Amino acid sequence: MLIFILWINFQLNGPSWTVPLGRRDSTTASLSAANSNLPGPNLNLSALITAFSNKGFTAKELVALSGSHTIGQARCTVFRSHIYNDANINAQFATSLKANCPSTGGDNNLAPLDTTSPTAFDNAYYKNLQGQKGLLHSDQELFNGGSTDAQVNTYSTNSATFFTDFGNAMVKMGNLSPLTGTSGQIRTNCRKAN
Ligand code: HEM
Ligand SMILES: *[C@@H]1O[C@H](CO)[C@@H](O)[C@H](O)[C@H]1NC(C)=O
Repeated sequence: MLIFILWINFQLNGPSWTVPLGRRDSTTASLSAANSNLPGPNLNLSALITAFSNKGFTAKELVALSGSHTIGQARCTVFRSHIYNDANINAQFATSLKANCPSTGGDNNLAPLDTTSPTAFDNAYYKNLQGQKGLLHSDQELFNGGSTDAQVNTYSTNSATFFTDFGNAMVKMGNLSPLTGTSGQIRTNCRKAN
């Protein structure tokens, strides 16, 4: 069997890693499988650690992979409870978010997951957590006086370590129970079914 390796560097100054090609993907998506396998934004730290452990990932890998929230956005409905009900949030940050995420309505209004550099793949996500500027409850759980604080501190001061650990964990995630045999398909475009 031939395994083709492609070197992907998707953004200047961001992490890069070697992607093993030939992974078989599903041709369909499952809402129920997503709901039962994907951790939710209101989970606490121990539930996040358990969810990742159920898939063979360590707490360190939980912290590294969550660094993906250095880019992208989330809807008001998934962070509303955090900005209105939680105490472990920077007061000015909460106030600014409430302007576009009212206590009722505006469910689909967006806010960046990384408030300081929303489109750059960097380690600002971890610095935000240190300043209690995590957008999701689950983000702030990673730096809330618990067992993962030290890893957040490490990544906040060492982006090279974050990039290395992130790349390794991405490859590991790509190898997570792929379909085998004739199930599913090898995509010709990784963004969509053939
Ligand atoms: C630790 C557990 C995680 C939780 C609870 C979580 C939760 C969420 C939620 C609720 C959103 C917003 C979705 C929406 O508003 O519709 C989101 C967005 C996002 N997540 Fe996560 N996530 C987690 C881990 C990850 C991981 C491991 C990755 C990738 C390595 C990731 C990458 C992203 C990206 C890129 C976005 C932005 C999507 C966009 O802007 O279109 N997340 N996440
Ligand atoms: C975390 O959440 C789980 C599930 O909701 C709950 O049983 C547990 O008591 C929570 N742990 C802490 C430390 O709050």
